[in-house]
Amino acid sequence: MSDIQRQPAEVTYADEIAALKAVDTKPKPEGWVLSPQAVITYLMGGQAGDTEISAKYVGNRRLIETAVATLATDRALLLLGVPGTAKSWVSEHLAAAVSGNSTLVIQCTAGTDENQVRYGWNYAQLLAKGPSRDALVPTPLYRAMETGKLCRLEELTRMGSDVQDTLITVLSEKMLPIPELNEAVYATRGFNLIATANDRDKGVNDLSAALKRRFNVVVLPLPDDMDEEIAIVSKRVGEMARSLDLPAPKNVTEEVKRLLAIFRELRAGETLDGKTTLKKPSGTLSTAEAIAVTVGGLSHAAFFGGGDLTAGSLAPNVLGAVLKDPVQDKVVLEEYLETVLKKRRDYADYYQALTELV
Ligand SMILES: Nc1ncnc2c1ncn2[C@@H]1O[C@H](COP(=O)(O)OP(=O)(O)O)[C@@H](O)[C@H]1O
Ligand SMILES: [Mg+2]
Repeated sequence: MSDIQRQPAEVTYADEIAALKAVDTKPKPEGWVLSPQAVITYLMGGQAGDTEISAKYVGNRRLIETAVATLATDRALLLLGVPGTAKSWVSEHLAAAVSGNSTLVIQCTAGTDENQVRYGWNYAQLLAKGPSRDALVPTPLYRAMETGKLCRLEELTRMGSDVQDTLITVLSEKMLPIPELNEAVYATRGFNLIATANDRDKGVNDLSAALKRRFNVVVLPLPDDMDEEIAIVSKRVGEMARSLDLPAPKNVTEEVKRLLAIFRELRAGETLDGKTTLKKPSGTLSTAEAIAVTVGGLSHAAFFGGGDLTAGSLAPNVLGAVLKDPVQDKVVLEEYLETVLKKRRDYADYYQALTELV
């Protein structure tokens, strides 16, 4: 095992990508590593010759087809959804399968300026030689255009609208002017953008109409089916436990089921049977958080709990996920404990562990 904590998708899944490439007979858009059909198999799982391709995204195939089809056009792709709906995950895997490189990423923040989107300058070189290609520092976007790859923009709406709008020329003219050198970078075939943004966030800057028009929006939903969500969480927890060298006890799926029942009831603001209305906490309690809570519980169980995954080792993590607002959410959780969990015999351990903590 290598010392690197986490490899990019194209390295982790190099075998799968190579196997898909070997049997891929469908036409590829220029600059693509795989055909659109093979990209779908890579994301949704399937078979490539003798190699089994693991499912990366669990959910609606049509959504991913739309995403892949968009990338083959001149419009860019915007993955939209609440936090924890696998937007970044899908974006990474799409870039790995389409371009063989998922590392051309710009993390957009309120502090992101144009130099981080277009290009910057190496000031020592700039002073010594004046503006020149040698003094120019390319950004991931610049390199993606030059090499015909996908550039990922994480949390696009967190950066200022004026900076966002520098993307308009890139997307409409497929070029990036460099006025200082009286030159421009022209995008090579294969170049496109995948942006992610979440629609439940404070301090977001909506896209201008001009920019919005150049993106095709694909909304990634929270799984509406409980069995599907159990499958996603159990699968990802298994994979993460393996990469962290944590033992996965036999009762993981059982515990994931109980945990997701709590998550889904609080998220929906009513009990699973629809009989009791509940207050909703301020956080999203997403699938990704259920994964994090379970992995946290596994680690606790492995080091301090004798190995079995119990409500006692999960409860502190559940609390962290629910109590995003320490005052308001505490009231919500207390009410849930008293009106729902207290009456459920099979949740007695959760009730006890959580009431001790809140
Ligand atoms: N439908 C899904 N299929 C596969 N994995 C999922 C799904 N939903 C959530 N996940 C998991 O959730 C985790 C976090 O997702 P992430 O991409 O960081 O969320 P986002 O960027 O939408 O906030 C990833 O490890 C991913 O595997
Ligand atoms: Mg993300």
